[in-house]
Amino acid sequence: MAGVRFGIAGCGRIARVHADEILALPQAELVAVNDIDPYALRDFAAYYNVKGYCDYEEMLEDQDLDVIIICTPSGLHAKMGVMAACSGRHVLVEKPLALTLADADMLVNTCEKAGVILAVVMQKRFCRFFQMLKSAVDKGSFGILSHAGATVRWNRDEAYYASNSWRGKKAEDGGVMMNQAIHIVDILLWLMGGVESVFAYTATRCRSIEAEDVGVAVLKFRSGALGVIEAASTVYPRNLEQTVAVFGEKGTVVVGGEKAERVMTWRFSGTEEDDRAVCLEEGMSCSGKSGHRAVLRDMVKAILTGGQPAVDGREGRKALETVLGIYRSAETGMPVSFR
Ligand SMILES: NC(=O)c1ccc[n+]([C@@H]2O[C@H](COP(=O)([O-])OP(=O)(O)OC[C@H]3O[C@@H](n4cnc5c(N)ncnc54)[C@H](O)[C@@H]3O)[C@@H](O)[C@H]2O)c1
Repeated sequence: MAGVRFGIAGCGRIARVHADEILALPQAELVAVNDIDPYALRDFAAYYNVKGYCDYEEMLEDQDLDVIIICTPSGLHAKMGVMAACSGRHVLVEKPLALTLADADMLVNTCEKAGVILAVVMQKRFCRFFQMLKSAVDKGSFGILSHAGATVRWNRDEAYYASNSWRGKKAEDGGVMMNQAIHIVDILLWLMGGVESVFAYTATRCRSIEAEDVGVAVLKFRSGALGVIEAASTVYPRNLEQTVAVFGEKGTVVVGGEKAERVMTWRFSGTEEDDRAVCLEEGMSCSGKSGHRAVLRDMVKAILTGGQPAVDGREGRKALETVLGIYRSAETGMPVSFR
């Protein structure tokens, strides 16, 4: 195969990031797009000079496509991913993988049976400092891990939720935990390993939406380490911070900034000079579209080499399972244990 030919389902906000990044990749080509909104479809297809399909099944009949990127509202990810896999296409699905475990499993199993690659967009995993942090954890540089935290203190106002009918609905989107926090929930699990149990509260305090606009959760990891997640879309008057912090016997790392794009603290015993260098190093900032570019590059490489993407369906399922555990705990008022 000379290059990888992409189709995109859903021509909204995030689809443009994918389309721009496909154009920037030498071994990738954007061939076709699909949207049920004829105006969104027309504008998008014209801008990128690609084929436009109002009917998704019709796009799947197009023989010029190797992979479909699912950029539709979250409640549609599983069904549209399954259809793509059944047509023999590789699937790159925007986060979250699905909104229920049954849907996630259906998508994972269908892709495995069809022999196609399934990858989930978790672009934070490709940030250089998160990869360095992962390798510090894996090398044992922290000694005994005591605890970790993930915080999203952002603002999504009424206009944001009103901008598309699916936003803030439980069956189509979920709330701040499922939509905004899932990236750093994924990072937390990747760094700290499996979760044994979770206890959570969620609430809808300030926005007129069905799902939660604030949530807090405490976790116990299988290792015995503890975790805290705090997520809110209610923070006045604008985004404040997104933070991941890992604490151990011999190490402390805090990644922060508005979108977890900067190393704030990097301390390991006996390595002060290195530590300062890591925090100050140029190019360590991780923001903008670089994450999506890395996700697409990883997908292209997996397809061309027959390898595995960094975040496959089973990997992407883990954060979903934890967020659904948070929801179940908040609903029942009881801790939720994972098998
Ligand atoms: N990785 C990230 O950082 C990131 C960022 C933003 C959004 N997302 C995810 O991307 C997805 C889309 O988000 P968005 O902000 O682009 O939403 P959006 O509302 O801007 O775009 C969604 C598009 O899908 C179209 N659509 C709806 N139903 C359809 C159907 N049945 N068939 C074809 N098209 C359909 C809509 O008309 C719209 O154009 C969500 O799942 C969201 O969680 C991920």
